[in-house]
Amino acid sequence: MTTPLVLLHSSGANATLWDRVREHLTSVPVLVPDLPGRRGVPWPAEESDRDVAAYARFVLAFLDREGVGPATIAGASLGGAIAMQIALEQPRRAVSLGLIGTGARLRVLPAVLEGLADGVRDTIDVMVNAHAAASTTDKDRVALHRMFDSTGLEQTLTDLRACDSFDVMDRIGSIRVPARIIAGNADVLTPLKYAQYMERVMPGARITVVEGVGHALPLERAQRVAAELAVLWATTS
Ligand code: COA
Repeated sequence: MTTPLVLLHSSGANATLWDRVREHLTSVPVLVPDLPGRRGVPWPAEESDRDVAAYARFVLAFLDREGVGPATIAGASLGGAIAMQIALEQPRRAVSLGLIGTGARLRVLPAVLEGLADGVRDTIDVMVNAHAAASTTDKDRVALHRMFDSTGLEQTLTDLRACDSFDVMDRIGSIRVPARIIAGNADVLTPLKYAQYMERVMPGARITVVEGVGHALPLERAQRVAAELAVLWATTS
């Protein structure tokens, strides 16, 4: 495959997070894997530490199987962390990065980790509310709920624990490829400050701020996200 655009989903989600974005990317070769632990995708047996580095190895093995060398790698939240990890560990595999609602350090609210660990189903409602902004529609809330329910509490906890231990704040200055950062200014899970830090530290990074949107950019602003990623892909593939 020619240099594709790879889309990596966020914690508790799956590849369907990108369905609306893909509708606007008809002329871009796109690969959208499910991360492991959901929708029948097993964790590789050798991965006992399920940290962001393990997710990055999973994605690189997926790209190997698809015959992909370099790619534009874009991700939302956890997916963006994985994209940065790949750029740090295997710089030749990432010709450019799309960093959507994410950050170089992703500590998670202890109440969310504890609620998921204790099997408290209401924690899903807490997560949906934390993703949303005032403008989030009921349809989008239902879509988020459905994804988290499908992934389940245990794997969602694994995803969020990986985020919680992720911290490359002192390393990302070495990432020099073009990076398009897209951030909602109403995002309480990965505040705008996180995006501004990445732009300040990464020499190839440029930020786009989307007004009034929270942590569900691929659902709520699919056309905008697709347009930004299409330009990034076209100028760097
Ligand atoms: N980029 C830039 N700055 C960052 C950062 C990032 N990715 N991550 C943390 N920081 C900053 C914080 O703003 C803070 O700065 P300050 O001391 O000037 O206020 C400092 O680094 C320490 O923050 P943090 O590591 O988050 O620790 P904390 O103990 O202050 O807060 C939480 C812990 C969990 C309460 C907080 O991280 C939070 O509210 N997180 C968002 C909620 C969440 O669960 N997000 C999920 C992400 S997947």
